[in-house]
Order: sequence, then structure tokens, then C-alpha cells
Amino acid sequence: MSSLTPDLTRATATLEKNGYLNIPTEPGLDFAAEIQKLKKEKNAVILAHYYQDGPIQDIADYVGDSLGLSQQAEQTEADVIVFAGVHFMAETAKMLNPSKKVLLPDLKAGCSLADSCPPHLFRKYKEKYNDHTVVSYINCTAELKTLTDICCTSTNAVQIIESIPKDQPIIFAPDINLGKYLVKKTGRDMKLWNGSCMVHEIFSDEKITKLMASNPSAKLIAHPECEPQLLERADYIGSTSGLLRYTKEQTSVKTFVVATEAGIIHQMIKGRPDAEFIPAPPDNTCACNECPHMKRNTMKKLYLSMKYELPEIILPEWIIKEGTSCIDRMLEVSAKAGL
Ligand code: 13P
Ligand code: SF4
Repeated sequence: MSSLTPDLTRATATLEKNGYLNIPTEPGLDFAAEIQKLKKEKNAVILAHYYQDGPIQDIADYVGDSLGLSQQAEQTEADVIVFAGVHFMAETAKMLNPSKKVLLPDLKAGCSLADSCPPHLFRKYKEKYNDHTVVSYINCTAELKTLTDICCTSTNAVQIIESIPKDQPIIFAPDINLGKYLVKKTGRDMKLWNGSCMVHEIFSDEKITKLMASNPSAKLIAHPECEPQLLERADYIGSTSGLLRYTKEQTSVKTFVVATEAGIIHQMIKGRPDAEFIPAPPDNTCACNECPHMKRNTMKKLYLSMKYELPEIILPEWIIKEGTSCIDRMLEVSAKAGL
């Protein structure tokens, strides 16, 4: 997978050769109970993103969006951080808290958006605009963060852009859809890298039109990684935590059509058991609004990862040294904005 450093690619290959991911477990083993035991034994904390499967979210110590997960990773006093999410999230946790052991149950849980911005190409692009401030969405590789001035997530992106003086030109990478949304929202004319998320570009306009017509009181809610034509018709646009909050607050709305990865619906149902949540339909027949990377993590892999304390995220020292300040700056601006 291209978002892995050569060292990590080698580590993954070794794990696979040794059959780590296929280690058989006792039939009928209660993974949830075993994971709880391992958590205590190893003083581990499980951080899970909203796009994980329900059982993983339920066993986690913290479930949240990319910003909340970064804040938790920075503050935790646990010895081991088990990241139920994707590679860039676990890398971010390691950068923010390098003395901790950070585990990712499946090292191949990557991100199509992070992969759409290879650092060697971005370095060349950046050279053309060397007076620009680089704002990168946190969904990028650790190496890209070494080329970034300040990071953002979808929860704090507007505040991050607004923290930069108005006359300072900006490059925004890697998500072009979030970038276009931010240009509209902040009125800033930014240079946009042309990357995107495979999950948020899969929705079918035609099927959504039919679905909304047959559910006239439903609200369409969308993540800003979706394409502009979908965002234009959305009743609410927000990060995963923003979408979740909206569904809790809009108590008179009984049906929501959800245009983001379907894992978030697990928490939406918990918050609003009286409401119906319909995943926005993709433009084909597969379950493509499920992120294949996020869904690589399973309860079995979580258990094995904690038991063997593998696979571990290991980053070269220069990456931690040069890549962490853009995340620190993001956390400072977020804290000032009360996020
Ligand atoms: P947020 O949870 O920060 O909205 O990010 C969504 C996402 O794409 C994570 O991969
Ligand atoms: Fe990456 Fe998209 Fe999956 Fe999030 S949903 S991890 S942005 S591919």
C-alpha cells in the first residue's frame, strides 16, 4: 500500500509471511471478554473511529471523529494505544505521543484519500507556490505532514482557514471536495490538490433523488468529503461528530438519509432510537459506502493485535520531528476555538 513507508511495508510483509493475521483462535472464544482482560493487563486504551463496525465501537474506550481521536491520543496516559481506525490516524497518534506503543490491528488499513497525494509529487507542486501556506486535511500520510504548515479535520477546517491572515495565499490538500466546500464557506481562493475519498464519491444523484421523493419529510445529511452536487442539495453538512449531533438535535425529524460511511449509523441509532437512518445509495449494487480500509479491522484482529502487541506503528525520527508541528498547531487553534 503506497501510504506505508518502506520500513512499514517490510514489517507488514513479515507479519503476513509469519501468518500473524491468520493465527487460529480457540473456537467460540469470546473476543469482547478477552479484549477487556487485555486492556487491563496491558494498560491499553482503545480509540475507535465512527466508521468502525458496531462491536468495535462498543468495546472502545473512546469513539469519535478525527479531531477527538487526536486529542485523546495526545492526552492518554495508557501505555498502549490500540487504534481502531486507519493508518494515518494511528500515525497521527504516534506523532502526538511518541513514547507510547501504538497498535493498528491491520497495518493494511489505509486510506484512498491519503494515497491520492503522494509526498514526492506534492513536494514538486508546493515548489510552484512557495509563498503559500500549506493546509492539509489530517487524512494524509505522516510524510505529507512534514510538508504541511497546519493540519485540519472536517470539524475544525473553517476555524483553521480563518486563523490564517486573509492576505496569505493557501494550498489545500489532499481533498478537492472538502477544499471546494471550504472555498465557498470561507470565501478564500485556495489552490486545491486534486485528491478524493473513494467512499464519499460513490453516491448516486439519481438514486438519492428517487429516495428523497419517496421520503418527502426526510433530511439529507452529508460529509464535506462528498462531491459539490451532493453537498448543494444537503440539508446539513458536517463532520461525523457534526452529523451525529444534528441527528440528536433535530428531534422532529424522523428519517435521515446519511451520505457518509455507514458505520456512523451505529451511534445515530443509539442517540435516536425513534428515527430511521437510510444510508445514501451508491451508484452500483455493492456496499460501497462502507470504507474497505476501515472495515479491515475486526474483533479477532483487535484481540490478536492486543495479545501480541502487533502490528506496531513505527515512524522514522525525522518524520516525527518534522511532521508533528502542523498537528500541534491544529490542536492549538482548535482549543482556542473551544473545539
Ligand atoms: P471525521 O470523522 O473527522 O469527520 O473524518 C471522516 C473520515 O473520512 C475519516 O476517515
Ligand atoms: Fe479514507 Fe475515505 Fe476511508 Fe475515510 S472513508 S479512511 S477518507 S478512504
